[in-house]
Amino acid sequence: MPDQVAIVTGGAGDVGRGVCRALSAAGVAVAALDLDVSKADGAELALECDVTDHHACAQAVDAVASKLGGVSTLVNMAQAMLAGTPLLDLSARDMRTEFESGPNATLRMMQLCYPHLKARGGGAIINFASGAGTYGLPGLGAYAAAKEAIRGLTKVAAMEWGRDNIRVNAICPVATSDHSADWVSQAVAVSPMGRVGDPETDIGAVVVFLAGPGAFINGRTLQVDGGSGAWR
Ligand SMILES: NC(=O)c1ccc[n+]([C@@H]2O[C@H](COP(=O)([O-])OP(=O)(O)OC[C@H]3O[C@@H](n4cnc5c(N)ncnc54)[C@H](O)[C@@H]3O)[C@@H](O)[C@H]2O)c1
Repeated sequence: MPDQVAIVTGGAGDVGRGVCRALSAAGVAVAALDLDVSKADGAELALECDVTDHHACAQAVDAVASKLGGVSTLVNMAQAMLAGTPLLDLSARDMRTEFESGPNATLRMMQLCYPHLKARGGGAIINFASGAGTYGLPGLGAYAAAKEAIRGLTKVAAMEWGRDNIRVNAICPVATSDHSADWVSQAVAVSPMGRVGDPETDIGAVVVFLAGPGAFINGRTLQVDGGSGAWR
């Protein structure tokens, strides 16, 4: 997809690096934004940016647009992840951490990128949600709530921006990441395919498809999990 420019927040993370490599292999110029870009891979531009900081995000979007020639795709993957706290012990601080890095940052990046996508006659936004929210997983209350808020924003943006030819979708992945050995063996055990997804060839491939002009999909959540949640 020559002439396409993608911003990937959380782009130096485990799944983020795979998504950057997949977009790059499809001919897209990719900018990875992350707190720490030392592990970034596959991106033409890697910018340190805290997505909870409005000024830093505005500067990063401007820098990408001027260096790479606009923005046509936004992938929101940055997210803090607090796990293992039962609902009764969740604090206001936990909720703030999850909501600031998740839906508040996702909305901020969508608002900052919207004029760039519109100026190009359209584009795609792909937000990362989670089965923790769609199914409800114990110990992940703050994270699950933040991810479901992201799905709400995704659907409203799809409705409001469809006429601008901007498609907005969400992905709930199950993929190799810095997970505990226990998490991996449980995920493999419940997977009909007997494995978790590869960040580049499984998750990145779906991002490339959704970013491409052929995807007549809008306001939807794709469970890219090899069927792990199909029975639910
Ligand atoms: N891996 C999975 O199986 C899985 C399952 C469900 C959902 N997800 C979601 O997919 C996305 C990618 O997950 P991952 O496994 O690669 O996680 P990860 O922790 O490896 O990557 C997340 C990245 O976000 C960055 N980040 C966090 N807060 C930030 C901030 N304030 N500003 C900028 N960057 C920030 C981190 O530095 C990290 O590089 C996340 O949104 C995650 O919640 C992943």
